[in-house]
Amino acid sequence: MFTSAMISVSAPGKLILCGEHAVVYGRPAIAAPLSDVRAYARIEPGAPGSGLRFIAPDLGETWTAAGQPKHPLSELALAALARLGQRETDLIVQLRSDIPIASGMGSGAAIGTALVRALATHAGVELAPEEVAALVYASERRFHGTPSGIDNTVVAHERAIWFERREPAPLIETLTIAAPLLLVVGDTGVRSATRLPVGAVREGWRADPRRYEALFDQVGELVTRARAALATGDLPLLGALLNANQALLEQIGVSSPDLERLVAAARAAGALGAKLSGAGWGGVMLALVTPAARLAVESALREAGAARVLAATVPATAGA
Ligand code: PMV
Repeated sequence: MFTSAMISVSAPGKLILCGEHAVVYGRPAIAAPLSDVRAYARIEPGAPGSGLRFIAPDLGETWTAAGQPKHPLSELALAALARLGQRETDLIVQLRSDIPIASGMGSGAAIGTALVRALATHAGVELAPEEVAALVYASERRFHGTPSGIDNTVVAHERAIWFERREPAPLIETLTIAAPLLLVVGDTGVRSATRLPVGAVREGWRADPRRYEALFDQVGELVTRARAALATGDLPLLGALLNANQALLEQIGVSSPDLERLVAAARAAGALGAKLSGAGWGGVMLALVTPAARLAVESALREAGAARVLAATVPATAGA
């Protein structure tokens, strides 16, 4: 049964530490939640007969599931209600997000996750993170082509993960992180829809599969080494691996002059390593820093034209 109370839940943004793009082709990647930057879903009962109504000020949109049944979030809500054994009902769903859209910080997965969790809470059903992730993944698949599933997974689990795309279910492992990571994130301010660079990589891969497979193999190897560096707390090595990942992403063709300007500024200001994060062509880059270098890197990124700069910590964890 639905509760009549107002429900408010949230889901974090995310960063891919290393392995983006190659992860679509079965290589491993490492991602962490961005717990301070979140999307929120609030659900309250609507007037009888009003149906499922969405209000999303950050998307500049208001719509109903009946009026726009093909809207990605209508479809996701209807799929979630079906999974929850609920019929479409009279609800007002308010969606809000602090995560810039199309920036590589997982805003789509976070909004979807918050929506599914709010509907589940409202229905009084507890969904495991895997089930939330699966619903959001099905929605991303419909609208973004060939997502690896890493975004919805890290957002639903809200912890740092090792991820490998596999059928029928991905491999998800908890990481051992011996020393906390301090990351500074610089946003180019350039919005870039994930499916565009992902589609360009697919075209490149189709045209020259050997070259791309070799690049993806190199990414996979450095992600494996990054896991070991995380486990031993070897941050200088991790920084060098992030730099190597950026070089490979440039060869894969998903970097941009704006991203490279921010990456260079962060390195010159003392970052241990820096790379683009997410799909590329715009969106964000991240820099691994020591506490002593943090302020210098933040101001270097602002001087280099970052539209927004934020710091995030990935806490130390014991692996599974
Ligand atoms: O920009 P984002 O956060 O959507 O990053 C997508 C990551 C890719 O590896 C490029 C695509 C994917 O589905 O894994």
